[in-house]
Amino acid sequence: MKHDFDEVVDRKNSNSFKWDTTPHIEDVIPMWVADMDFKAADPIIRALEKRLRHGVFGYAHLPDAYYDAESNWWQKRHHCRIEKEWIVFSPGVIAALAAILQAFTEPGDHVLIQSPVYNSFYSTITNNGRKIMENELINDGLSYEIDFDDFEAKASDKRVKLFILCNPHNPVGKVWKKEELERLSEICLKHEVIVVADEIHRDLVFDGPPYVPFASIDSTNSITCTSPSKTFNLAGLKMANMITANEAYKKKIKQALLANGVPDPNVFGVEALIAAYNEGEEWLDQLLVYLKENRDYFVSFLRERFPGLKVIVPDSTYLMWVDCRSAGTGSEELSRRLLEEAGVRVNEGIIYGNAGEGFIRFNIGCTRAVLADGLGRFEQAIAAMK
Ligand SMILES: Cc1ncc(COP(=O)(O)O)c(C=O)c1O
Repeated sequence: MKHDFDEVVDRKNSNSFKWDTTPHIEDVIPMWVADMDFKAADPIIRALEKRLRHGVFGYAHLPDAYYDAESNWWQKRHHCRIEKEWIVFSPGVIAALAAILQAFTEPGDHVLIQSPVYNSFYSTITNNGRKIMENELINDGLSYEIDFDDFEAKASDKRVKLFILCNPHNPVGKVWKKEELERLSEICLKHEVIVVADEIHRDLVFDGPPYVPFASIDSTNSITCTSPSKTFNLAGLKMANMITANEAYKKKIKQALLANGVPDPNVFGVEALIAAYNEGEEWLDQLLVYLKENRDYFVSFLRERFPGLKVIVPDSTYLMWVDCRSAGTGSEELSRRLLEEAGVRVNEGIIYGNAGEGFIRFNIGCTRAVLADGLGRFEQAIAAMK
């Protein structure tokens, strides 16, 4: 069945974090937080409707069908075998990261991340009293590469206990290659650093390099975090999984979840994950076509109208990372002006670390009409700044 990604769903007044939280500005195009404006796939909606009609919403448990759906998806979509016993539920990837930090590090320990990177890595590490060690990615203007010498120097620092990999990488849209992951894995093994692979964006990969699961390289010195939430736009249903073949790691993570009082699964999240992974593939394939067209539209627009701004063309995700340093303002000031003067809400690059200063992250997981409106407003705002 063909899904209509151009269909406009009015998300205002739906308690949407993306659409309903911009104070004082009525007419806003939200191109910030990473959720998409598309309706979920029909099989997911049907599964939720069926569960809703049941009418009783007591505590849920995870049936075999849940574990089957997760492990089958790894196999059929990513050609990677994982055992059902390796899966540990969490209500979100950030909740998973917090539990992992508590399980494997002590306050004051350092955690390695590759900046610019997803802002909640910073906050989750520091909120838990741990310290950040940054391995800054090298930006050659078109893409980003790993500085392996710097990575090894930092991984060998005895204070570093964990490395959080973002694969594919938010915000730079990079899909890491097998050789790169192998090298990271070797270095981490050598220096006894545990790898946490945040692979929440793994399904949103275009026709560039294929996504390689870190677990296909090393499933023992690693914990991989996944969720259908980005792929199928289900972030509000709160479900994610941690995968590790290491029994001792699994035990420690479970203890940390218990200590945090992490809740049982949400009844709707369970149904949604099963339906998404078992029946959502057709929708996802169509979504990827639409997102790629959005990406190409965005890139052509910016390159044509603003040759001074450098757009990183992502291999993955619906997040566009734009080097706006030539605009002459910091990313906070630029974002503020885009919001106040043009009604476009974006993410300022500085929240992804100092390496993001002067950059803006745009979410293009929206209808083409909204994208065109957002870009038109962006153009006006930049023109007014000259
Ligand atoms: C890399 C990455 N990890 C985790 C999350 C959030 O995951 P969750 O909503 O499951 O906590 C996001 C959301 O944008 C993300 O981009």
